[in-house]
Amino acid sequence: MAGMIPRQFIDNLLARADIVEVIDSRVPLKKAGKNYQACCPFHTEKSPSFSVSQDKQFYHCFGCGEHGNAISFLMEFERLEFPDAVEELASHYNMEVPREQNNRSPAQQKQDQKAYIQKQDDYELMAQISQFFQQQLKVATDKEVAIEYLKGRGLSGEIVKRFGIGYISDAWDGMMKVFGRSGQINQQLVDLGMAIQGDKNKPYDRFRGRIQFPIRDKRGRVIGFGGRVLGDGNPKYLNSPETRIYHKGQELYGLFEAKQANKQLTRLVVVEGYMDVVALAQHGVDYAVASLGTATTPEQLQTLFRTVKEVICCYDGDRAGRDAAWRAMDNALPLIQDGFSLKFVFLPDGEDPDSMIREQGQAAFETVLDNATPLSQFLFDHLLSQLNMSSAEGKGAAIAAFYPYLTKLPESNLKDAIVTKLANQFGANNEAQLKKLQTNFVTKPEESGTPKRNKHIKNTPIRLAIALLLEHPHIVDKLPDPKILADLNLPGIPLLNELIMLCKQNPKANSAQLIEHFRDQEAGKQLTKIMCIQHHIEAIHAEDTFLDIIENFLNKFLENRSNELMEKQRTVGLTKTEIGELHSLLSEQK
Ligand code: UTP
Ligand code: MN
Repeated sequence: MAGMIPRQFIDNLLARADIVEVIDSRVPLKKAGKNYQACCPFHTEKSPSFSVSQDKQFYHCFGCGEHGNAISFLMEFERLEFPDAVEELASHYNMEVPREQNNRSPAQQKQDQKAYIQKQDDYELMAQISQFFQQQLKVATDKEVAIEYLKGRGLSGEIVKRFGIGYISDAWDGMMKVFGRSGQINQQLVDLGMAIQGDKNKPYDRFRGRIQFPIRDKRGRVIGFGGRVLGDGNPKYLNSPETRIYHKGQELYGLFEAKQANKQLTRLVVVEGYMDVVALAQHGVDYAVASLGTATTPEQLQTLFRTVKEVICCYDGDRAGRDAAWRAMDNALPLIQDGFSLKFVFLPDGEDPDSMIREQGQAAFETVLDNATPLSQFLFDHLLSQLNMSSAEGKGAAIAAFYPYLTKLPESNLKDAIVTKLANQFGANNEAQLKKLQTNFVTKPEESGTPKRNKHIKNTPIRLAIALLLEHPHIVDKLPDPKILADLNLPGIPLLNELIMLCKQNPKANSAQLIEHFRDQEAGKQLTKIMCIQHHIEAIHAEDTFLDIIENFLNKFLENRSNELMEKQRTVGLTKTEIGELHSLLSEQK
């Protein structure tokens, strides 16, 4: 962990950023009255319930309950961690993110800071190495073999450039000669998987005599390489090992390039190899990614379905390909809500997407994609092939076979369709039988990817006061004393108090900035919920309404307290100070 990002900076960033701009560049927004709206990017819907408020610098979906400020949006939409979301937002506004010492021990802080600087340095070094590999295609003494190889595989200079493809001649120190300038950098090169430490002496190049495919992360930073031999050497592909900046299960080769090439991605094709991705792009299918390993991980599938609604997995038609497809399907089930689809293409023996598109061209390949096997069909083909559905045993076995998959699938039209189809197989055509069958497959909530619905939250006076304050922080100005509610012992008051103090200190803050102060706190969750209350109080009445609420509380409190004191006076009598208090209370109430 790097040092904390100073609160002040986040404040400044949120003051500068415009959530409408941030969201609009990713999810096109339409103006609707005072706000902007779109179909929610976080769940599937036909009519827009995702609303973005420029005044509040806040988004909220009335359908699924997702909400937050510009930072939260980037975290959710781009699947970034908090610091990365801040970095991303800051980079858009050309602001550099400073880091401060946090409340970890000085030794830990130093380590955090070092790790952060280290990573920044790692990205920089990897970028330089990638540039170097690309340059080798122009300057290496044996560049011709590499160029011939790439040409032989049908790649144009433009595509080679788009994917940053490079080359390194076959030598032990081609890269080290240029980059291995000190013991420290040598170690860094080993850590990043670019060099290998032998028994003694200087580390030597990991990648030798290979075409180099840079692997980029979501933000386009080079984090690793895949290197292909030019001939028939072994291994055919050499990959970067896992490092502090490269975790292969979380990355998809080609995703950055696909996003760059398409403003509006609608579908993604998952293929097996680097060359498949690049060859497809060469022939106009510029929306393919490779999963960088045999299985497509849940993290990768999540990234895919965050990016598009239609994912087509393209595998070999053999046993291994079908197994890979099955595992991908199993991992994807919880993510497939209405509007999302996962499909499969199984290629003929001996073909891969690269060879197919080269032989048949873009149109034919896209026809294959258009006719991909839908998930439901894949499921039936696979699960029912061995069962005899005319026997009672077969029917029982079918329920058992479908159970683990259907319970992972969110409640959706797809799931209904699968259950209905299953019922038909049973010969169960009436409603009652269908219902009975359906109860077998109720989705287990913890396994479903459905976003949590926003629980309806009641609009109490305290909540209304908080909501108004979040929207119009300046309304605390007229409050005679910010500590005015400090003695009130009521639920919700401490939070209101804290917010009042915060607004007094930051009278120009917007809602997004205020809420940001409470990120990761229980109070923050409450505040964001309150923020979503629809209260219909116009801006011009906000101050009056707020002050009325506060006054009511005070009156109620004063009344309670004076009743309490009078009761005590009647029974056990009052102390001198209590008499004084009662007098002033009664005169205040008039
Ligand atoms: P394939 O063997 O199907 O190769 O490996 P390919 O993609 O068709 O490659 P070309 O067309 O011969 O150049 C598919 C993927 O499996 C991984 C790589 O990610 C490769 O792209 N792989 C394969 C390795 O990591 N190492 C290997 O030695 C082979
Ligand atoms: Mn191939």
